[in-house]
Amino acid sequence: MSKRYTITAALPYTNGPIHIGHLAGVYVPADIYARYKRLTGNDVAFICGSDEHGVPITIKAKKEGVSPQEIVDRYHKIIKASFEDFGITFDNYSRTSAKVHHDTASEFFKTLYDKGEFIEEVSEQLYDAEANQFLADRFVVGTCPKCGNEESYGDQCEKCGTSHNATDLINPKSAITGNVPSLKETKHWFLPLDKHEQFLKDWILKGHKKDWKPNVYGQVKSWIDDGLRPRAVTRDLDWGIPVPVPGGEGKVLYVWFDAPIGYISATKEWAARVGKDWTPYWKDEDTKLVHFIGKDNIVFHCIIFPAMLKAEGSYILPDNVPANEFLNLEGSKLSTSKNWAVWLHEYLVDFPNQQDVLRYALTANAPETKDNDFTWSDFQARNNNELVAIFGNFINRVVVLTNKYYEGHVPEPAVFSALDEETLAAVKAYPSVIESSLERYRFREGSQELMNLARLGNKYLADEEPWKLVKTDEARTKTIMYVALQIASALATLSEPFLPFTSAKLKNILCHTALDAESSWGEISTKDVLLPAGHHIGKGELLFSKIEDSEIQAQRDKLEASKVANDAANKVLEPQKETITFDDFTKLDIRVGTIPEAEKMPKTKKLLVLKVDTGIDVRTIVSGIAESFTP
Ligand code: MF3
Ligand code: ZN
Repeated sequence: MSKRYTITAALPYTNGPIHIGHLAGVYVPADIYARYKRLTGNDVAFICGSDEHGVPITIKAKKEGVSPQEIVDRYHKIIKASFEDFGITFDNYSRTSAKVHHDTASEFFKTLYDKGEFIEEVSEQLYDAEANQFLADRFVVGTCPKCGNEESYGDQCEKCGTSHNATDLINPKSAITGNVPSLKETKHWFLPLDKHEQFLKDWILKGHKKDWKPNVYGQVKSWIDDGLRPRAVTRDLDWGIPVPVPGGEGKVLYVWFDAPIGYISATKEWAARVGKDWTPYWKDEDTKLVHFIGKDNIVFHCIIFPAMLKAEGSYILPDNVPANEFLNLEGSKLSTSKNWAVWLHEYLVDFPNQQDVLRYALTANAPETKDNDFTWSDFQARNNNELVAIFGNFINRVVVLTNKYYEGHVPEPAVFSALDEETLAAVKAYPSVIESSLERYRFREGSQELMNLARLGNKYLADEEPWKLVKTDEARTKTIMYVALQIASALATLSEPFLPFTSAKLKNILCHTALDAESSWGEISTKDVLLPAGHHIGKGELLFSKIEDSEIQAQRDKLEASKVANDAANKVLEPQKETITFDDFTKLDIRVGTIPEAEKMPKTKKLLVLKVDTGIDVRTIVSGIAESFTP
């Protein structure tokens, strides 16, 4: 049954390029889901954009001595290009600096303000007198009141995920000057989460949200059980969306207030572009809203944003929030600042046109239920042992043999054997097998089911050996090739969400577009014939190629080099001696001498013989300065 889906992927912060962790945790699963939903005939809006406000961007700008706008312009471009390069099919990739977003977020804030949904309160907030600035969010670091992590940020602890107020931090320190902040009064608007506690309990805990992933449900439950408190949704900063109500001068919306509204603005922008009405995508109860995010975003998407939407009153709430855990790289946490990452734009330089290999390796090893590790040797194994040896090998055999035996025509089958019947029936079942994984947001499982279909084909050919039978049994050979071609056709369609570039190539090789009704996802289980006898296919083209050990070693060396560079940059040399006092220093007799005579040392190029008058004596000193000074 066709349904309307609004699928969102977390808006990435625009303070750096994106790496494999982003792709694995959010964008590849979101894209698989969106493609799958479109392929199965649904009405999909797949929405994302750049998150261009927030403290990290202003910190980066300050460090480089440029404006925040310059930073976001630079990275918006790079990030957008990376998504396109990797085949992430957003219907709209917008940005929160867009006018439609400023308008939408301001209006949203005003609506809540007019409805009396905020508490307006003057309170004491952390202040850095030297920097002449209030400290919130990433401007302040301290000990997390919940888990004791000493490097928690003002709004969120990255270790335990807890979201808190900056004043909750134990031993807070300014991230700008390192000073211990003082307290200073300032007015802000607070969203009283406590007021929405009952609703959140009913909606998530008593509601149908038990089918949310256990990691998501568990985190949310523990926050609600701990009790919710009002959260400031405005900040004393100059980068962001101005607070649009009286008394808001010089203040901006908290980035986590405006960013999720970015999903709505990006939907509006898209709808206007394609001539649609945006409202059903956000206001029709029949629409399924699904947020793809990383685990550090759970509280914002499961508690704060839903409370905002509820308070506004006219919006639907998310149906599911399939958050992933984190991906590590070769055993260590991915880190932008330490350059411990595989950057997408760099990957494509080293592995041109191999987007699907990375998509596949990241999906097959996705951090769905626990943090997971990306290793280059796993990447190589996924490519060589699965994509090349199973998928690619099967397709290559089918295409080469069809061209060789039948000049590219699908042969007429004779009588099906029991194995043929079984195989064709298994192919018919695959769409629902993969669907059942994807409906439960189990993308790794789905990718393995797809590979199982290729495995089935590969084994079928290996067992039936048409290349031997062709000499003795023409009819049987034709039947085998016919069955194998049906499997290949199903693979072309079912691989699209996971391996979109390969799927396009394969459909092209099999000439799918020449079919009466283009072979579609649903038809695989309903039609008996996918590629009819007589249909003409094209010549082969290698879908995957082996990745050599040397290529993998080069990647490991690259990582090792960035580790060495990073260690060197962070190396703190212990002082070798104690620091002397000025009195110690005055004990030295340091003099400026006069040089009454200088002459070149015979038979040398560099040496001058100097007489130096120190005021107490006259000494002879030989010095290697003859190339820079004449006597
Ligand atoms: N920029 C945030 C991050 O990278 C995610 C924002 S998601 C949105 O963690 F909901 F706010 F859009
Ligand atoms: Zn913590």
